[in-house]
Formats: sequence, structure tokens, C-alpha cells
Amino acid sequence: MAVTIRDLAAWKAEGRRFVMLTAYDYPTARLLAEAEVPVLLVGDTLADNVLGYANTLPVTMAEMLHHARAVARGAPDQLLVGDLPFGTYQRSCADAIDNAVEYLKAGMHAIKLEGGGWVVETVARLTQRGIPVMGHLGLTPQSVNAFGGMKVQARSAPDRERLIADAHALQDAGAFAIVLEGIPRDLAAQVSGELVIPTIGIGAGPDCDAQVLVIHDLLGITGHLRGAAPKFVKAYADLGEAIVKAARAYVDDVRAGRFPDDAHSFH
Ligand code: KIV
Repeated sequence: MAVTIRDLAAWKAEGRRFVMLTAYDYPTARLLAEAEVPVLLVGDTLADNVLGYANTLPVTMAEMLHHARAVARGAPDQLLVGDLPFGTYQRSCADAIDNAVEYLKAGMHAIKLEGGGWVVETVARLTQRGIPVMGHLGLTPQSVNAFGGMKVQARSAPDRERLIADAHALQDAGAFAIVLEGIPRDLAAQVSGELVIPTIGIGAGPDCDAQVLVIHDLLGITGHLRGAAPKFVKAYADLGEAIVKAARAYVDDVRAGRFPDDAHSFH
């Protein structure tokens, strides 16, 4: 049965923890559906994890839609969330609505956008139009330049108060869930306890209602490429190493004349 935003609300009410993972292509979406991951995010981390950009800022709506369609073909029964990339909702609510509509036409069931105060009106306008919205607070990567780097946010008392107020404002505007990224554990616990909608943590400790990771981090690809993964990441596989080993073995076999052999030939 298809996962919907109503399931997430029910899971929060029941105290049942769940997960979200990023997915950017058809085979990954199919495999994550097979693993019964209920929520897939076509994240703007497509930029740095798949397209080779330095951060999430350069990725375009056209690039996101290309990958969103592939994920929708692979996992139509999961709850699919399309991340609005930088520049597609900052200018106006009209921009946000136009781009969110594109995502829903591409097979997404909801959209995600980053920020507090200034996006609340946009969230209200989207939800009034039947477009489910996931919020995102804390270390919001599209603000990397304003933050002066990827640093843990909301450490001071005024910043903590602002984040708590933003979380309530997003909930009141109709958001169905909020990602909490890169904030102190006790703050994430407080927000999760106060909200009726689920919080989805990443680098926010274990007390959120749900957890999200970037699939390339979980599979050990990013850690292999960058030499290390951030503190909040746990790699459950070493696919980076496995891919290099497999490709090296193939190179060696072909060079040595071991592949293709007769068993892999037509007669
Ligand atoms: O784009 C993304 O992958 C995200 C998650 C890290 C929450 O926003």
C-alpha cells in the first residue's frame, strides 16, 4: 500500500520511529523500496553527491526533475519528496508554487524547502493549494555562505528560541514534517516533544521522530571519495571500496586474457 503523509502523522501519534533516505535514480529507488524505506527524498544533495558540484547551490530545477522522474518510476508506492533547489522559491511564492507543481507532475507527492520565518507564508500558500510541504531548519545547506561554512546551528539562547518559534510557525502554516539538521541534541528533543508533526533528524541526535541520511553516506561512497564522513554519518557498507575493487579486478582480467572466456562467448 502506498505511504502517505497521513501515515507519518499516525506514526508520530503512535510514537513509531521511521526513516527517510535520499534517492536520485531508478535502481536506488527500487532497492530502497525493496528495503521498505517509507520516505524517499530527491534531495538537492544530488548536486554534491551525484553531479560533482562543490555544494547544493548550483543544481537546477531541470536537473532535479530529471532525477525525480527516475525515482518516481522506481518507487511509486513510497512517499516521494522533491527538494526545491536554491533559487526556485526565494524570489516569490509564485515561483515556489510553479516549481512545486512541476514536482507533483513529475511523480513527487510532496516538496521540501529550507528556512524559517521568511518561508512560512510560502508554506501556507502551498499547503492551501493541496501541495504537502516538508520544512527544514537548522543547518540548512543552501545558506552555507550566510553561515560561513557547514557549522552546527542554534547554539546560542536567542538562536534556539528562533528555531523553536520557526518550527511552530511551519507547523501552523501546514507543514506535515520538519527536517532538523545540524543542531544540538537537546534542542532537537525539545522541538520533537513540542510539535504534533514528525521531526526528521540528521546530525540532530536520536530524539527526533525519524532519521534521514544521504544514501551515498550510508553506503560508504561519500566517505571513500572525501576521505572522511561527517561525525553524524554512519556508513552501513563500503561501496566506494567495493566499486574500486570490482573495477580493478575487471581491468586485471581483461589485461590478462581471463575475460571474456569461452563461458561468456556465443557459439
Ligand atoms: O538534500 C538533502 O539530501 C537533504 C537531506 C540531507 C535532509 O536535504
